[in-house]
Amino acid sequence: MTEPLTAPVPTAATDLTLWRGAARVLLQNWRGDSTVPSPGLYPHQWSWDSAFIAIGLRHLSVRRAQRELETLPLAQWGDGRIPHIVFNPAVPLAAYFPSPDFWRSSRAGAALGAPRHIETSGIVQPPVHALATWLVHRFDPALSRRRGFLERLRPRLAAWHDYLTGQRDLGGGGLTAVVHPWEAGMDNSPAWDGPLSRVEPVPAASYRRADLDHGASAERPTDLDYGRYVRLATDYRDAGYLDTAPLSFAVEDPCVNALLIASEHALADITAEPGGDRAPHERRAARLTDALVRRLWSPEEGMFLNRDLGPDRLVPARSAAGLVPLLVPGLPAHVADTLVRTAKGASFGLGTLPLVPSYDLRGPDFDPSRYWRGPAWFNINWLLERGLRLHGYTGEADGLRASMLREAGASGFAEYVDPCTAEARGTRSFGWTAALGLDLLAAPSLPAPRGGGDPAPAATRPGARERTAV
Ligand code: SER
Repeated sequence: MTEPLTAPVPTAATDLTLWRGAARVLLQNWRGDSTVPSPGLYPHQWSWDSAFIAIGLRHLSVRRAQRELETLPLAQWGDGRIPHIVFNPAVPLAAYFPSPDFWRSSRAGAALGAPRHIETSGIVQPPVHALATWLVHRFDPALSRRRGFLERLRPRLAAWHDYLTGQRDLGGGGLTAVVHPWEAGMDNSPAWDGPLSRVEPVPAASYRRADLDHGASAERPTDLDYGRYVRLATDYRDAGYLDTAPLSFAVEDPCVNALLIASEHALADITAEPGGDRAPHERRAARLTDALVRRLWSPEEGMFLNRDLGPDRLVPARSAAGLVPLLVPGLPAHVADTLVRTAKGASFGLGTLPLVPSYDLRGPDFDPSRYWRGPAWFNINWLLERGLRLHGYTGEADGLRASMLREAGASGFAEYVDPCTAEARGTRSFGWTAALGLDLLAAPSLPAPRGGGDPAPAATRPGARERTAV
C-alpha cells in the first residue's frame, strides 16, 4: 500500500459494517494498478468493471481511483477502442477463457493499432469511463489538477467516443452498435436469443470453459451460448477485428447508448474544466439522445428495446437494459415518466421487490438465477437509482438505495442476486457490488444535477463526517 486510505466514517453501526466489508473487498481485489472484478472468476482488468469500481474506490483512495482509470486506456488501440479485458501477464493462461492466446490482440489487431506489449481482448464494453472520470475528478479536484488527471485522460476518452460514434455506427442511424453480447455487458440476456440463433456454435470440445471452475453452471450461461460467443469472437479476430467485415451479430443496445450519452455529457464537463469548448460534446449527446428515442423507444412496451441490425428491427425482449436510459439527462419527460411506471409495474417490481431484475419477471425466458436472464445486478440498480434521482423520483430512489445497501452486505457483495428473494448468486466479494455499495453509502440523498455529475465530495457535504483512516 503506497498511500493512506481515507474515507468518511459512516454513522450507524450497520453502515460501518457494510463500509468495512466493502473496503475489504476493494483492498483484496486491488492488484497494484487496477482492481480485478473477482480474484477467481475474473482475474484480469475488465473495462466497465474498472469504471464502476473507480466510482466507489474514490471514497477510499482518490489516487487509486485515478490510477484505475488511467491504467485501462494504456491498452487503448490506435483506432480508439478501449478493450473489454486487459490481461495481467502474471496470471496463468488456464485461469480464464478466452485467454490472451485466443484473442492474439498484438498480432491480429496490429493493423488497428493494438498495443504491442500489452495483451487485450479485441472487443469493447459499455462506455462508463468518462462518467467515472468526471466523478473521480469532482471528488478531489485539487489532486486531480495537480496530477493532470483530466488532461491526460481527455484525449483518450475523446478518441474512444469518436470510435463508438464513428465506425461503430453500424446501422447508420446515429447510435453505436455492439458486435458481441459480451460488448453489451449483459452476456446472456434473452434479448440476444433471436440475433444469436443465426450464429453457428463452435464445437464444445474445441475449448475449455474456465468460468465453471468458479461458478455453478445453473447460474452461468449455457454451453450452447458459449459456443456462439466463441464463434463470434473467433470470426471477428480472424477478420482482423475490422468493423467493416461482414458481422453476424450487430445490435444497438439501449443501455450501452444511454451510458455513451451520460459519458458524452461528462466529456463536455471534462473538456470545459480547463476552459475548452463543451458545445461539440453537448451537441453530440443531444444527437445521440434523439437517435436513442427515434430508434429504440417502444411506446407499446413502455421501455426501450434492442435493435437487431441484421433484419433491422426491434427485438421483442424486455431486458432491464431498456430502463437504463432513465440515466439520460435530456430524455423527454413523458418517456422518463413512462419508464418509471414500467419499472414500478409487475415486470420489474421497483419498490416491491428487493432489487430490479435484469429481465422481465413475467417473460417466458425469465430465470431468477442464471447470469443476465433475470437476477438483479448492483450496477444496473445503481444506474437506475441515479436516473430516478435525476428525474425527480426521490422517494423511489431513496427506497432503491436503502434496499441496495441492505442486499449488498447481506449477500456478501454477490455478483448478482435472485431479484425476488435477494439470495446471493454468482461469485462473492465482487468488485463493483462493493464499490457501488460504498458509493451509495457515501452519497447523500440529494438530487443529482441534471448534467449527471455528482453533488459534491462527501467530505464537504452537510452532515458528512471528517475523513479518516479505514
Ligand atoms: N462476462 C464475460 C465472462 O463471463 C466476458 O467478459 O467472461
